Parts: sequence; structure tokens; C-alpha cells
Amino acid sequence: GTVSLNDKYLNQFIEKDEVIAVQDFVKAAHRKIHEKSGAGAEYLGWLDWATQLDKDEVSRIEETAQKLRREAEVLIVIGIGGSYLGAKAVQDLLCPSFGLNKMEVIYAGQNLSGRYMEELLSFIEGKEVALNVISKSGTTTEPAIAFRVLRAWMYEKYGEQAAERIIVTTDKTEGALRKAADATGYTSFEIPPDIGGRYSVLTAVGLLPLAVAGVDIRALVDGAAQAEKDLASEDLFENAAYLYAAYRQILNARGYSIEVLASFEPAMSGINEWWKQLFGESEGKQGKGIFPASVIYSTDLHSLGQYLQNGRRTLFETMISFKEEQYQSRIPFDQENGDGLNYLADKTLHEVNQQAMNATALAHVEGGVPVVTIEVERVDAFHTGYLIYFFLKACAMSAYLSGVNPFDQPGVELYKQNMFELLGKPGYEKKI
Ligand code: PA5
Repeated sequence: GTVSLNDKYLNQFIEKDEVIAVQDFVKAAHRKIHEKSGAGAEYLGWLDWATQLDKDEVSRIEETAQKLRREAEVLIVIGIGGSYLGAKAVQDLLCPSFGLNKMEVIYAGQNLSGRYMEELLSFIEGKEVALNVISKSGTTTEPAIAFRVLRAWMYEKYGEQAAERIIVTTDKTEGALRKAADATGYTSFEIPPDIGGRYSVLTAVGLLPLAVAGVDIRALVDGAAQAEKDLASEDLFENAAYLYAAYRQILNARGYSIEVLASFEPAMSGINEWWKQLFGESEGKQGKGIFPASVIYSTDLHSLGQYLQNGRRTLFETMISFKEEQYQSRIPFDQENGDGLNYLADKTLHEVNQQAMNATALAHVEGGVPVVTIEVERVDAFHTGYLIYFFLKACAMSAYLSGVNPFDQPGVELYKQNMFELLGKPGYEKKI
């Protein structure tokens, strides 16, 4: 299929009976998701979003993106967590590396680094710029600060015309950003109230920046819609997302409490980050959760690879494999053969990379690391949308299997509270 699970390296770690034993729990969790009866049920809007999505809204996003592409060279997306990781992930995977994209989409508001901001301001000097500020709550401090700085820069450069280059993506009625949009006439998009940040990449949160970056957002949504149909069964042997979730929890129960998402494609680094947020923020609560980590191979075979092979045996690995050979870069024949590589002459890098993956999986399994492989047919917008939905659904299932609410993030609040106290925000009396 489009995205499928290959468990040939798992067989020596998990018996089929163990999987059958969790089927009833999977069915119960499936009902929580589909009947909206579990904890956090008010955040299940993502479940059928791709098939319900209003095509007029997609057109409005595309038109806005076209306008921005005509008028600007750089789009700065301001957001943090679920308000930027999805767009960045898909952009990293689908857009060319090495600055080959004509329209630059860059990010701000995901850190408080003065250096980052100063270098960003130097970079945009003399360029035509647009802003897309994204915050569901409209009150998150990091993006609010970045927006204040960059908005001042925009008004300095464009005067009142700046308003036409600022796009707001936020809640329909709530928050400071909605007020700003209403007061200034900024073009705005809505984040549905029933879709949380880390589940929002297929809403305007991800779609607008991605359309500006040149991604085929309709294909992305279509891929998710296909996954929605394919991953609707309550039977975990007919639902790859549920099977993946079940494997994770079976392994976790056995003390494999760290999952390493491994990819042999460097363009996957953004998806790694998005995936870590999705699973980390959804499952890491009540003293539970699988710690999500990630690697990019071959790079990390010469780094964390040593730990994977011989370190503490508390981790399992999920490898992502892209099956189709889309790029034909070949290793040339060399008369001298000084490097001894003629045995590889005429092979594509893809072929060699695939063997690097098989070799790594075999080595890690031998070293005691359970390995599960997610096979993706090819890299394009459709398959990326499919893969995103696969993970969203697997994450909801996995969190319910472990008995936590997949959709809240109570633990993100304490640092904010402390920061406000330390910075003297009005209304926050000092505890520290
Ligand atoms: O997944 C989540 O809900 C969070 O990571 C939020 O996306 C993040 O905290 C940013 O929130 P907001 O969009 O309200 O600024």
C-alpha cells in the first residue's frame, strides 16, 4: 500500500499472541476515538478533517499564497510547537535543499535567541517580506515577542501598506491575535477549535506556509483523506496505524521506553521533529510515555549508531523506508579504482542506501534492538499527507492504550508560569 508496516525484524521480539491479546484494548480505544467518548474528545476535529475540508477555504489559501509569492521573496512564519513544526516538516521533506526554492519560507518565534533574531533581520534587509503569524491561543509569549519585533520592522519598511503583507492564523473568536486581525484588517485564517496544535498541520496552520513554499497542498490533503479511509478499521490486523501503536505499547510494557525514529533521508529531519512533538506531548504525562528520539542515517550511524548497537537495551527503532527510486544519482566507473569502489560502479545511491538500511536493521536486531519499518511508496505531497495522518491516528490510539489524554499538554504550563514570575509579568506574584 501507500504506507505500510513491515514487521519482519520484530518477529523475534513479539509473538503474534501478544498482539492478539491487545486487540480488545484497541477496539475500546477505537471507540473512544470514533465515538468521541474518551478524554480530550473535544479535540478530535482532525479525525475527518481531510475529507470534510471546505474546498473554498483551500482556494482562499492558494490565492493568498499566490499573492504573497508575487509580492514577497521571503515569508516569515511566526509560531512555536504545533503552530510551526508541521509546516517546517513538510517543507523540509518536499522542497529542494541548498536554497533552490525561489520563495524562501523561514521561521521565527520558536525561540528567544537574540542572535537568531538579529541574523534574521540582517537576512531580510533589502528583501520583500511577508509575515504569517500563527498562534491558536494568540497569547504564546515567544511568537508574540517575535511578532512585535517583526511587525515594527514591517511598518518601518512599508508604512501602512505593511498590513497587506501580514497574515494572521488563529482562533475564530478568541485571543489577542484575533483582536489584532479584526482591528487592522489583516487577512486571517481560522484554526478550528477542535484541532490542537500538534494535530493542525493540515489546517491553514500548515497549508498556507506550504502553499507559499510551492507544495501541492491539495495532494497533501488528498493523501490524508486516503489514509482516513484506509485506517478506519478497529481490527489492528487491518489497520497499520493501530498495529504500530500496539507494537509501541507492547514494547514499552517490556521496558523499551525509548523509540528512535530513524530515516536514511536527510530531508526527513523536519518530520522527525514534528513526530517527536506529536508523540512526546501527547504521551508524556502521568509519569508515563515512550521517549521519542530521532536519528538521520548514515550521518548518525557514525554518532548515536554506537549507542543503538551496544548501549543500554531500553530502546526500539522505527525505520522509515522510501521504496521507489526517485533520484538516479549513480556511482561512476573509475579506470584506476584507487578507492576500490568499482564493485559499486553503476549502482544508484538509492540502491546503496537501501542496503545500508537493511544492514543497519540486521545489526541492530542482532544487538537486541526491536526494529519496525514503515514503508512509504515514494516522497511526494500525497504520500506525505498519508504518512502524517498515519502518525496522528497511531498517536491517538497509542496514548489511549496507555491511559492518557492524547490531546492536552498540562506540563507545558509550569515553565511559562515561572518565566512570567521571573520577568515580572503583571498579575504573576513572585513565588521564586
Ligand atoms: O501542540 C500544541 O498544542 C502546542 O505545541 C501548541 O501548538 C504550542 O504551544 C503553540 O500554541 P499556540 O498556537 O496557542 O501559540
